[in-house]
Amino acid sequence: MTRKIISLTVFISFAVLVLTSILLYIAPHNQMARQVGWTFLSLHKGQWTSLHITGGFLFIVAGIWHTVINWRVLVNYIRNKSRASFKIPVALLAALAINAFIYIGTVAHIPPLEHILNGRGVLGIFYQEQESVSGFRAGD
Ligand code: HEM
Repeated sequence: MTRKIISLTVFISFAVLVLTSILLYIAPHNQMARQVGWTFLSLHKGQWTSLHITGGFLFIVAGIWHTVINWRVLVNYIRNKSRASFKIPVALLAALAINAFIYIGTVAHIPPLEHILNGRGVLGIFYQEQESVSGFRAGD
């Protein structure tokens, strides 16, 4: 029963994180969000940020708990995989390579990571244009 509750909590909190992450990615910066009265499902940006943080903590706690409960299964899975593939843990190496590409690519400004980060800048310019069209000015 505990296993099921923890697994479902990881799943639901991850779904909440996915939603709130997308919203925080596309939402205008805090000051502008307040000025233009940005909301989604009647909640303002500050409320979505709070949900992102508490959902994030729930995800971390439930994720660690989930890993501890399933530790043996995880280790056996990697061992069996490595036996089946000439003792080289191919899946583990592939997962490490994907992660390394993302993190090294981020600090080294390599596309497409650079584009993901720049996308926020493009959205910022878009919101600024909207602001000047609607007559809003920062500090008003
Ligand atoms: C699915 C994984 C996650 C994604 C894709 C994600 C994405 C984001 C994005 C797009 C922002 C907005 C950044 C900005 O405004 O410059 C953000 C902010 C933040 N995230 Fe996450 N996040 C994730 C998981 C987490 C987790 C697990 C935590 C831990 C609690 C967390 C804590 C925060 C905090 C503290 C902020 C700053 C909020 C603020 O503006 O004050 N995130 N995240």
